[in-house]
Amino acid sequence: MRSTDVVIIGAGAAGLMCAMTAAARGRKVLLIDSSNKAGKKILMSGGGRCNFTNMYAEPANFFSQNPHFCKSALARYTPWDFIAMVSEHGVPYHEKKLGQLFCDNKSKDILNMLLEECAQVGVAPHLDTSVHQIEKTEAGYQLDTDLGPVAAESLVIATGGLSIPTLGATGFGYDVARQFGHTVLPTRAGLVPFTMSGMLKELCTELSGTSVACVVSANGQSFRENILFTHRGLSGPAILQISSFWHPGDAVQINLLPDHDALEWLQGQQSARPDSELKTVLGELFTKKMATLITDTWFASKPMKQQTPAQLREIADRLSAWQVVPAGTEGYRTAEVTLGGVDTSDISSKTMESLKSPGLYFIGEVLDVTGHLGGFNFQWAWASGYAAAQYV
Ligand code: FDA
Repeated sequence: MRSTDVVIIGAGAAGLMCAMTAAARGRKVLLIDSSNKAGKKILMSGGGRCNFTNMYAEPANFFSQNPHFCKSALARYTPWDFIAMVSEHGVPYHEKKLGQLFCDNKSKDILNMLLEECAQVGVAPHLDTSVHQIEKTEAGYQLDTDLGPVAAESLVIATGGLSIPTLGATGFGYDVARQFGHTVLPTRAGLVPFTMSGMLKELCTELSGTSVACVVSANGQSFRENILFTHRGLSGPAILQISSFWHPGDAVQINLLPDHDALEWLQGQQSARPDSELKTVLGELFTKKMATLITDTWFASKPMKQQTPAQLREIADRLSAWQVVPAGTEGYRTAEVTLGGVDTSDISSKTMESLKSPGLYFIGEVLDVTGHLGGFNFQWAWASGYAAAQYV
């Protein structure tokens, strides 16, 4: 029987941070992952450049049934702590926008940094290693693994959520939580593109690849960012953000003219360019293709002087408050995160330890804590991994 102080299941963002920090405290750590590579999501993240944190991360950027849960861990390991490590390792980075920090080169700079930190304190992830059974013992936990039986004082579940099964996502963490009496709140895909049907899908397909700055709103939340038309529907940062607040059947409102009072702008155009067609006028703001397509689909394209005040108002309303009812989302296949998960009511916000089973810890995305788009989800993984590492 192999014996160790701490077993961490999941060598992703949270698991690696927890492993290097606990081992640096002198704890003997065994890090296990069923995948053939550690940190696959880190490698895929940020379009290959890993948006590894957000300088302005604060509790308001996270949702959870208990919005207070994330506060303590986020306060004890801030974006600046992670930035300090990134700088120490000489990893070049930049702010893309809105406090979002990305690697200048490749995401693998971040993964290599974490693996190096682990190696320095004697931790190497055991890959392609599954855990078949977990039992509570007097001294801690006993696991039946591909490495044989393992006993540990502390067990950390860092297996993430359900998004992108091809990157190693499994529901393992939720099963362990249930085994030890925890509630798992309903899960759904978050930060995910919308799919459309019928005419809307045709419009999106025609405009596929077009990106427009918008304000997108649903259920009392609004995000100002770009939307992207795709062959299946709508994506882009504004859509990914709002998808986390959307439920099937909800309408999403899109303001395609966020920098203008739509009616005033149209009236101004009518005075300045009475003989220009609507599609030509809209070509000032959108690509020619988009201006033509939305005019032909939604309005009558005629010279501006022929648009009646009522018609101008109708055009303004449509452009500033386009109502869209998505058919659905692309689901876990492409979602960046999983909403819901292990209920935080039975977890200590200070230590991440289970209040139901001493010595059992949950960190990262497996918990019911989800960040907005923009580096917040990694910040949660780092902060929760660091918090648990002080106590395991
Ligand atoms: P994570 O998913 O990273 O790690 C879980 C680990 O557990 C994996 O290595 C997996 O193989 C392993 N595992 C699963 N089941 C197991 C089992 N049964 N046994 C053993 N091991 C098991 N966030 C952000 O802040 N900035 C960004 O730029 C992006 N970009 C991005 C792009 C894409 C395509 C995705 C899918 C996601 C993002 N994210 C992101 C979100 C971010 O990747 C995510 O929130 C964190 O990786 C979560 O970290 P965890 O360590 O909790 O899980």
